[in-house]
Amino acid sequence: MVELLKMTTATQRKKAIRDAGYNTFLLKSEDVYIDLLTDSGTSAMSDRQWAGMMRGDEAYAGSRNYYNFENAVRKYYGYKYLIPTHQGRGAENILSKVLIKKGDIVPGNMYFTTTRLHQELAGGTFADIIIDEAHDPHSLHPFKGNVDLEKLDKLVKKYGAKKIPYVSIATTVNMAGGQPVSMKNLKDLRSYTRKHRIRIIHDMTRVAENAYFIQQREKGYQNKSIKEIVFEICSLTDGATMSAKKDALVNIGGFMATNEWDVFEEARNLVVVYEGLHTYGGLAGRDMEAIAIGIEESVNDKHQQARVGQVEYLGNKMIDYGIPIVKPIGGHGIFVDAKAFLPHLNQDQYPAQTLAAEIFIESGVRTMERGIVSAGRKPNGDNYYPKLELVRFTIPRRVYTQAHMDVIAEATAEVFRRRNKVRGLKMVYEPKYLRFFQARFEHL
Ligand code: F0G
Repeated sequence: MVELLKMTTATQRKKAIRDAGYNTFLLKSEDVYIDLLTDSGTSAMSDRQWAGMMRGDEAYAGSRNYYNFENAVRKYYGYKYLIPTHQGRGAENILSKVLIKKGDIVPGNMYFTTTRLHQELAGGTFADIIIDEAHDPHSLHPFKGNVDLEKLDKLVKKYGAKKIPYVSIATTVNMAGGQPVSMKNLKDLRSYTRKHRIRIIHDMTRVAENAYFIQQREKGYQNKSIKEIVFEICSLTDGATMSAKKDALVNIGGFMATNEWDVFEEARNLVVVYEGLHTYGGLAGRDMEAIAIGIEESVNDKHQQARVGQVEYLGNKMIDYGIPIVKPIGGHGIFVDAKAFLPHLNQDQYPAQTLAAEIFIESGVRTMERGIVSAGRKPNGDNYYPKLELVRFTIPRRVYTQAHMDVIAEATAEVFRRRNKVRGLKMVYEPKYLRFFQARFEHL
């Protein structure tokens, strides 16, 4: 699909962002020149996927597209049972309701916004067990998504394994900057959790990107295909939630998968309450067909090389301009360190929110905040103060060219040059849940 890009003037952009309460989520997309808000649902589908869309079987029950979807999940990921959902958070809702009891602890390799909220709404408490390096934008650790097994062991000793329904493992870790988990770490985690009879639930939203990093960086995997590595990662876990809007190259869709019949049975019952019948889960038949094809395309070596390669191209340009970014460069985007970019703002003046607004004013490029606003509040009402205060430049798959990447880097460098003059923000409207989506701000 080709679409026209609209260019705007700085005056128009200043008005647009003010009207949007300095929140890039509240901009109209027609005012955006290059859209790096997210890689979620924004990738371009292939000719094969569009052909699949034409073969939608829109029967209410037992659509053939559901069986193609199930076959793809079994073939490429190896999970036995599939529950389709409208997107990732639909799967998180059902999985959390099935597995978490009030008072449970859910350890994970860094939080993700919707994942943690569903864990909390089900009565659980999230505990961060990612390695310390993940919270340091300068650490060059090649697998910053890894779990610190000592942190996990402390939780098991303190609360007992019975209070831990599962360990929540994301590949790659979004909030750390798209950072991968190593196969060795997953294997160590598997032996530990097997001993303590704790499940591993896999947030596999960007598993193919994680597999690419394993292929590039981990000993013994250079000659393995992404397809083989993805399958091996999944084999070390007991079930999964997936937002198919990322790796799987579709505009909408997701699923929950499990190897356990009991969990499947309960989830299959809940899905009819919240999403739709268990053979469509809130999706049209055509959407399921596009996911089945997208899963297959996502494990193509050349595709991942081009995809992550484009992100690296942008990251290296930013580094050349002296812009502080999270290193190593991650899988789905560039994460600019807003604390280092705007050191004159403290975290309560929302440096990342401010910077995202400023980049939009400069160039019409839309990015998003991944800092204190995204982190939200604890169930007791206190703010979380995350160490990472980042602006995410998320690259949709198969959409933009390297020339767009050049424009993005140049625009960011321009803001970097005038960074001392940038003023912070105050929050003037805060919704109760996932505030980053709808909060409004004014200039200080
Ligand atoms: N898990 C991860 C790691 C994600 O990145 C997302 C979505 C979800 C779960 C939830 O999936 O949106 O389909 O309901 N991330 C998007 C983003 C919103 O922009 O990073 P969803």
